[in-house]
Amino acid sequence: MEVIINGKRVETKEGEKILTVAERNGFYIPVLCFHSDLCAMASCRICVVAVNGKFVPSCSTEVRNGMEITTNSPALEKARKINLELLFSQHQEECDDCIWNLNCKMLDLAKEYGVEINRFWDRKSHYPVYHFGASLEYDSSKCIDCRNCIEICKKQGVEFLEIKGRGHLFEVVPSEKENRDCIYCGQCINHCPAGAFEAVGEFEGIEKPFAEKEKKVIFQVAPAVRSTIGEEFGLPYGSVSTGKLVSSLRELGVDKVFDVPVGADFTTIEESKELLERIEKNNLPMFTSCCPAWVKFVEFYYPEFIPNLTSVRSPHIILGGLIKEHFAKKEGFIKEELMVVSLMPCVAKKHEIEREELMIDGVRPVDYVMTTREVGRLLKKSGVDFGNIKEGEMDNPFGESSGSGVAYGTSGGVMQSAFYNISEKEAEFREVEEGVSVAEVEVKRKKIRLAVVHGLGNAKKVLEQLKKDPEKYHYIEVMACSGGCIGGGGQSVPTDEKIRKERKGGLCKATGEKKIRKAKDNQEVIAVYDDFLSSEEAISKICHTRYYKVGKSFVRKSEQKEKNGD
Ligand code: SF4
Ligand code: SF4
Ligand code: SF4
Ligand code: FES
Repeated sequence: MEVIINGKRVETKEGEKILTVAERNGFYIPVLCFHSDLCAMASCRICVVAVNGKFVPSCSTEVRNGMEITTNSPALEKARKINLELLFSQHQEECDDCIWNLNCKMLDLAKEYGVEINRFWDRKSHYPVYHFGASLEYDSSKCIDCRNCIEICKKQGVEFLEIKGRGHLFEVVPSEKENRDCIYCGQCINHCPAGAFEAVGEFEGIEKPFAEKEKKVIFQVAPAVRSTIGEEFGLPYGSVSTGKLVSSLRELGVDKVFDVPVGADFTTIEESKELLERIEKNNLPMFTSCCPAWVKFVEFYYPEFIPNLTSVRSPHIILGGLIKEHFAKKEGFIKEELMVVSLMPCVAKKHEIEREELMIDGVRPVDYVMTTREVGRLLKKSGVDFGNIKEGEMDNPFGESSGSGVAYGTSGGVMQSAFYNISEKEAEFREVEEGVSVAEVEVKRKKIRLAVVHGLGNAKKVLEQLKKDPEKYHYIEVMACSGGCIGGGGQSVPTDEKIRKERKGGLCKATGEKKIRKAKDNQEVIAVYDDFLSSEEAISKICHTRYYKVGKSFVRKSEQKEKNGD
């Protein structure tokens, strides 16, 4: 097939969209609502082009043989400018506090088309802010009605966001249905071009961990953050910045910087033990549980599968417990003197640290969770020269993990680590459907089918398959976000498939550079088992937990004037 773009003949295939063909052939078309993770919603109409004189959105219009397409003309410029003005008329600008901040497509387009962003009164300026648990806030006064959040929430198998009203009364609202609840994956944050969703605490509560001067501040850094934090400072996607991050945190006044992959080594050891026990007792399938959005998904939507979740705590919760219960004693502190802050790619972790059953003798293992974006913002605000800072090293005793521990940051890493810990070689996976990869291995002379799943919509399909055939898979890893934590809701924006691939490449490099491959070979971890985790009681207290069937959580709604302190 052939089409003519701006007078030039180009080859194309049936079913392709005009935007794809134009971009592939070097023609620029501005876009705003289009996101490659989603079906085109075609709502902003910034990407309009002329086809045989008629204006159509290029992101959703399929090519036809012989089509004549014009991507730019004074009339198209005028149409785009009007569309942009209409979008700004319903978007309340709060650029300083926005997750897009210096990276905003709306502002870039406003400059490109000479749009005066305050020309019209923001008609949604009185719309409320919704608070979803301890993890997210949704400010509906910023919404430009693109529907991306609804689409991604649906793709996650959750359908918590809904449309209320039509035309100028269109509104995105959280569902009031009893059988719908947010599971805090944060994917609506990454997919909203207008910055209407944010993690709780983002920017406003940013200095909290440093306010209590008398406390020793300990940061622990999640695996996936090392290959994304550089993006906050303009480094190329996939740059591994572990050393720069450690030095930057020290410059802020952090007392110790530990590595969550060390916590992951404990998770791996405990999870592989549980897997062997379950295989022996034929108590399968077993599900991983280190993704709190997945855990909440099971607890709320599929409680019949709660017994299948491994009882092992997630890596930062185990490490937080070890810091407060073991490290504190060894260093002569009382645990209340320590403040443990987890630096995470994730907003669901903000909900996780509030789970009561994770408390140890009435004390939380982790006091705060800060996202990659949040820490990026804090470092910028504090004037840290991230790009030029000398690389530092993590502190001991929780600074050196196995390669398996670092692999937790990407889809497949958790299961591969647990399996590799009890076998000679790694399992070989093949993708069988979107977001689902499988492998067959032998453990204790039994054939075990492994499945790695990313994206909760894909996990939902697997759970439905298991309802029909409980033997289909025996051990299943699920990560709520596409690609695993490298695509988490707390990561830098933008995020798309290409970017996740680069981040994964960086993380694989960091994994490969580790001297120890398997969790069970980590001498620091072995020393803690000998010294502190020497009884079943101690292991259970620090490393294991329980799960419950949960009801719909309460969504708080606040008015704009409340937000602005009026
Ligand atoms: S909240 Fe954001 S993603 Fe959702 S419809 Fe509005 S602008 Fe689009
Ligand atoms: S956090 Fe996830 S589940 Fe909650 S509204 Fe956003 S996309 Fe939906
Ligand atoms: S995949 Fe990772 S970032 Fe996403 S919700 Fe789960 S733990 Fe959080
Ligand atoms: S980018 Fe095509 S309609 Fe928004």
